[in-house]
Amino acid sequence: MKKLAVFASGSGSNFQAIQEAIDNQMLDAKIEILISDKPKCFAIERARNLSINVFSFYANKYTDKDSYEEEILNLLETLNIDLIVLAGYMRILGPTLLKGFKGKILNIHPSLLPAFKGKDAIGQAIDAKQNIIGVTIHYVTEELDSGMIIAQEKLDISHMKSKTEIEENIHKIEHQLYPNIIMKVLEGYYEKSTY
Ligand code: GRF
Repeated sequence: MKKLAVFASGSGSNFQAIQEAIDNQMLDAKIEILISDKPKCFAIERARNLSINVFSFYANKYTDKDSYEEEILNLLETLNIDLIVLAGYMRILGPTLLKGFKGKILNIHPSLLPAFKGKDAIGQAIDAKQNIIGVTIHYVTEELDSGMIIAQEKLDISHMKSKTEIEENIHKIEHQLYPNIIMKVLEGYYEKSTY
């Protein structure tokens, strides 16, 4: 069975949705570990409730990105992780993890990339008065939110009344789409792609 490492910094609703897809036999995989740079985030509480192992760290306790990524890489290699799944991980990956898991790192972003990269993509889209926004799943490269796009799903927000309502609807899409795409990636569906 393929082994996942999920990285999260916040609420962890995508992390939980992936585990639920596994429990419902929609996704044939195992989350071996949750990695978090926010030792008090809600994603960690979810992991404890789901009995999933956690590695959490404070980045500022390390001399640099390489040193904490080195530690994470060693851990992931020891666990024989097949795929890294970023789910609301609020740090840019450095060369250590990118080289160690080349072509084996996915991210989900709440916009139709290449539009609205970076933080608060939904807020950016609202400010830009967009009617159609969406979700993108892509491979991770050294450039933020820029690796090869694997899947996108649109959402019409023209009738929505608040940012909260938009976020809820984006999350609904994410919670369906991410497990489906992870399964396809694990099955080698995108194997011939260049990324
Ligand atoms: C999601 O909207 C995802 O697209 C973005 O961060 C958010 C994480 O939400 N990268 P959650 O922590 O999974 O609830």
